[in-house]
Amino acid sequence: MTETSLGFVHRFVPAAAPGRPPLLLLHGTGGDEADLLPLGRTLLPGAALLSPRGAVLENGMPRFFRRLAEGVFDEADIRRRVADLAGFVAGARAAYDLAAPVAVGFSNGANIAAALLLLHPEVLAGAVLLRPMVPLRETPPVDLAGRPVLMLSGAADPIVPAANAGALAERLRADGAAVTHETLPVGHGLSQADVTRAGAWLAGLAAA
Ligand code: MLT
Repeated sequence: MTETSLGFVHRFVPAAAPGRPPLLLLHGTGGDEADLLPLGRTLLPGAALLSPRGAVLENGMPRFFRRLAEGVFDEADIRRRVADLAGFVAGARAAYDLAAPVAVGFSNGANIAAALLLLHPEVLAGAVLLRPMVPLRETPPVDLAGRPVLMLSGAADPIVPAANAGALAERLRADGAAVTHETLPVGHGLSQADVTRAGAWLAGLAAA
């Protein structure tokens, strides 16, 4: 059922299996709170799923922050929206009795997840970033010591240049995150290879 409480339209699916980290599902441009639920169920079966809808509209399409053009971000808006999302996660953890979630973000959702890591490092237990790019040009150092992050980029992605994804991996590593960055032979869209790779990575995380 779609909820409108806690400051974000969202869906929450309680855990069906104990001991798995909750997943914070963050959709891409034009998605909504229902979009990634099937992916979440596939990636880590039985995990609790928390799936907000981005509060910004671009030509009617939900996003998590404003952009000035494709790949050109409104950084002031990112900072504001990231603070809102951090507040939502804190409220949802209290309301639903959740451990710190692992984000699974695609495209715009991956970018807001990366911004969460860089600005509010305490919010996420880890992250799967599918086709992310650098969300903010400059951020002060934060403590992401040992935080597990899987980044999956596309070798034929027309939106994210390889150097940009590489710069994000380096930035997260500089803050201490344990980053695994792989480039798949795909474009910007999600592929079966993403599902296989991210599912195996999350299974390893849940078993650790
Ligand atoms: C963004 O705006 O976050 C990126 O360009 C990815 C996208 O949503 O297309």
